[in-house]
Parts: sequence; C-alpha cells; structure tokens
Amino acid sequence: MSKFWSPQVSSLVPYVPGEQPKMANLVKLNTNENPFGPSPKVIEAIQAELNDSLRLYPDPEGESLRQTIAGYHSVKPEQIFLGNGSDEVLAHIFYALFQHGQPVLFPDVTYSFYPVYCGLYNIEGKTVPLTDSFEINPEDYKQPSGGIIFPNPNAPTGRYLGLEHVEAILQANPERVVVVDEAYIDFGGETAITLVDQYPNLLVCQTLSKARSLAGLRVGFAIGHPDLVEALNRVKNSFNSYPLDRLALAGAKAAYEDEAWFQKSCKGVISERERVTKSLEGLNFEVLPSKANFVFARHRENSGESLAKDLREQGIIVRHFNKPRISDFLRITIGTPEQNDALIAGLKSL
Ligand SMILES: Cc1ncc(COP(=O)(O)O)c(C=O)c1O
Repeated sequence: MSKFWSPQVSSLVPYVPGEQPKMANLVKLNTNENPFGPSPKVIEAIQAELNDSLRLYPDPEGESLRQTIAGYHSVKPEQIFLGNGSDEVLAHIFYALFQHGQPVLFPDVTYSFYPVYCGLYNIEGKTVPLTDSFEINPEDYKQPSGGIIFPNPNAPTGRYLGLEHVEAILQANPERVVVVDEAYIDFGGETAITLVDQYPNLLVCQTLSKARSLAGLRVGFAIGHPDLVEALNRVKNSFNSYPLDRLALAGAKAAYEDEAWFQKSCKGVISERERVTKSLEGLNFEVLPSKANFVFARHRENSGESLAKDLREQGIIVRHFNKPRISDFLRITIGTPEQNDALIAGLKSL
C-alpha cells in the first residue's frame, strides 16, 4: 500500500502464476509447459531475425503471421486477432466484448485469471457450478449474462466438452459473446474454430504456449467474426500497438510451418498422459478424464496439500490449489517419460 496508488490498484487482487523456480534439476510439472520443446525450425527462424532489423518496430498488425494462421485454420486473416500470449487476448476480450452492466458467466472451477480480469475492469463475474463429476452442463448457461467464457478442455480439471454442447451454449445465447478458451485443445479435443462462420457470437482463443511449446515467446490469438476482431483491435491500439515483437512473429510463423513436429509433440504428450493416468490410478488416485497436457487427480487417503509438499521435498513440483471443491486435488503437468517416471517413483516412495 502506498499513498501514491490509485483507488483501483489498492483494491486489485492479481493473478498468482505458478512458480518458476530458479533451482536446477527440479522435475517441474506445475505450469503446463510442454516438455518436448519447440520445433528446431522455430529456433532457426528466430535466429535469422537477430539482426539489424531489430532497430525497426515490428508489423503492428502481424499480417504475415495472421495469414499463416488463417491458412492453417481455413479462415480469413481479418478473423484473427494476435496478442502477447492468450492472457493478453483474454484481457482485451473482457474489456471489449463483455457487457459490463451484467454478470459474465464462467465455471466455479476454472482458469483463475477470469475473476482477476473482472476485478481489473470492474465487471461482475458469476460462477456457474460444474457438475459433481466436474463437467460443464450447457443447460446451466441458459440464463441472462453479459457474456460467457470457459476453457475447453477446462483448466485445471482437464475435462472436455464436446462440440455439440458448445453449440448448445452458443444457440442459447445469440445476443451475447461466448468465448471458448482453447489453450489445451490440441491434446485430443476438437476445435470450435470450425463454427465461427456459423455463429457471429463465437470467439475462440488459442495459444502457442502449450501444444507448440512456446510459453516463453508469448503468442496467443483469437478467431471470430471480423466485427469481434475489430473491437479487440480498438482496445489493442489504445494500449500497445506492438504486442508481438519481431522474434515472436517470426518464431510463431515457423511453428505453424512444422506440422510434423507439432503432431509428434501432441502424440507424445497424449501417450504419456494415458500412461501417467494408469500409474496414478494404480496408486489409489482418482484421476479426472483429461484431454489436456495435465491431469487433475486426488488421492483417496492423502491430502493434496501434504502430497504436494512431500513431492517438493523430493524436487518434484506439481500445482495445488487451496480452493473450495478442489483442495484435495493435484494438477500434474505431463512431462517427459523420465520426468513422469520420477513423479510416479516419488509418489510410490510416499
Ligand atoms: C485456460 C488457460 N487459458 C489461457 C492461458 C494463458 O496462456 P498464455 O498466456 O501462455 O497464452 C492458460 C495458461 O496456463 C490457461 O490455462
């Protein structure tokens, strides 16, 4: 607190990111990074960009990257909005596309940045409880709102909602923007991008941080009707015209040009996820069905908090949320086969 703070800042409750420890040799399974790393073509593209051109501002519209992503997803470049990580895209969405006089709906167990954006922009957030099996029930989203947002697959549960249910939510809310946050969609789900031409109220948000293993580059995007994109551009150009630097633009484009690497990486995560799930079940864990690059699991006898603490003492970091309904759970990022073996061995020793 300081007398120099604005009243808005004094009442802010910021997001707390997962720990990025400074110690080496930790088994880091706490922030859903992809252990298989970016395509070597991404590194080459970034290195090629390390030259005198850095004295020039980057393309504020990211035209070339938008064209690449548009081609990849069979949409038009004007349907794409780029941001510095999908977190920035989400922040602009909350400001630009939700009706601030009415509550924005999101699940009670979900990405914890959503209530933070509500606080930042003074928007009311209304949580909609997941079912007892931690699923989104589309029926619960048939109520007045200022907009709707949910991740698919949801985080931190990993549970996936089929496209027909996403459509049911869209059809029930033709006057409101429905945002599907697809940070983890490539690990086994089906994207709603195929629905954007049919539903002008749909905005799909994706990131290169997970399946493309570029969390450090900070690139995210949204795809939807050009009118929605224009609203986001208005906010972006009132805030920071150059959210993506030259290196990020070049690296992100190269990531879309190496489909083989992307497919291999996703397959690697999915097969390790199945293996980790079986091992955890064998150790008396209940594991929610996941289509993400993490699993959400609770032990039938030991508390999530004590397990997270004991694993940490062994140099294995997982995420524990001390929150209603989920305090018994651990969110465990899928690592390399060796990291996953270390996790299972660590749990066995407990
Ligand atoms: C559901 C969800 N959405 C968005 C993000 C943000 O991703 P980024 O800002 O790295 O693109 C995350 C990050 O973990 C996430 O879990």
